[in-house]
Amino acid sequence: VSARGLITLGDYGRAAAVRVRGDVMDFVDGGAGPETTLRANTAAFGRWRLRPRVLVDVSHLDTAVTVFRGPWRVPIGVAPTALNTLVCPEGELATARAAEVAGVPMIVSTFASRTIEDIAAAAPAADLWQQVYLFRDLKVTRSLVERAEAAGATAIVVTVDSPWMGRRHRNLRNDFRMPTTVTAANLAASLPAAPDISSPEQHAAQTMDPSLTWADISDLTEWTDLPIVIKGILTGDDARIAHEAGAAAIIVSNHGARQLDQVPATLDVLPEIVTALPRDIPVLMDGGIRSGIDVLIALALGATAVLIGRPVLHGLAVGGQAGVEGVLSLLSDELRDAMGHTGRPTLATVDTSLLAPPPPPVHAPWGSW
Ligand SMILES: Cc1cc2nc3c(=O)[nH]c(=O)nc-3n(C[C@H](O)[C@H](O)[C@H](O)COP(=O)(O)O)c2cc1C
Repeated sequence: VSARGLITLGDYGRAAAVRVRGDVMDFVDGGAGPETTLRANTAAFGRWRLRPRVLVDVSHLDTAVTVFRGPWRVPIGVAPTALNTLVCPEGELATARAAEVAGVPMIVSTFASRTIEDIAAAAPAADLWQQVYLFRDLKVTRSLVERAEAAGATAIVVTVDSPWMGRRHRNLRNDFRMPTTVTAANLAASLPAAPDISSPEQHAAQTMDPSLTWADISDLTEWTDLPIVIKGILTGDDARIAHEAGAAAIIVSNHGARQLDQVPATLDVLPEIVTALPRDIPVLMDGGIRSGIDVLIALALGATAVLIGRPVLHGLAVGGQAGVEGVLSLLSDELRDAMGHTGRPTLATVDTSLLAPPPPPVHAPWGSW
């Protein structure tokens, strides 16, 4: 893939849109309902302004961060996204190899279209975390956890924002059906046969367990020695409960605005959640990160690291492994550019002093028009 013309993550999104079938692109890019939160996730970053310090030695920038195994070269990881073969035949094998090259972690989706064993073999040095749902049939979840641990995964991420699948208007409107070439291989390897995912919504309704409560999280801690990460927290209250339930880290996430519309933008609730937790609990966040400046703002508001979802799939669609490498290196170049220009040579110097509060709404002094 030639990086020519691909100078922002938005460019990757537009390049992907001309390569990927319209209904598949809608599945990737769409959100729940009329997508108010989808827009808010990205817009939240644009409200902040940066307060640069000058004449700070920024000839060496240190962007490394360690969460559990670590170290990661930059505080940017790959969010779990289902069925990567939808946009590229190699699917998660290519995504994992790109994460390995970039020195960043990849969270493998339960609904990966490649098995965790094959992904780990393809990218032996990659730091892989396994994402799970607590299914109605807990044996399936347990099998995936045990397989992931055996394959060398370093954390288990449990997604807790999905009693069922969100009402995604784009998918409903075009009656989205999963292409038959795509299978939930990772899940299939824990089942007697490959599940029917032709209607993702129906499959979720049959397998997700809406009766789950915090008491069920303790099951997980009994199945594995790996740290448990809770993904899908949007309030300080739930963050505190997650910590009490044994979470070793939290992911502030609204599932890329794919579950319920009009929940807050993740950036807007990040400070509340950071404040609710002890300082030694890593807080990751995802949703709407589209530039290195976005990463810097999230870190300044207390995130330990961020995750990206859709841009990784755009890179994969544009150029397979090289495309994802392009997305990850673009984002880390932009982060370094922003750290240098704001006089923040280390992540420890990235704090709220970097940020000017969102500008107040403008009231025309001459009254209304
Ligand atoms: C196509 C697609 C599939 C996803 N599949 C999963 C999944 O299987 N499990 C999960 O926890 N989150 C899933 N997510 C949510 C992402 O992990 C992440 O929270 C979100 O994409 C971050 O927002 P961003 O896309 O704006 O970066 C998915 C997101 C997309 C776009």
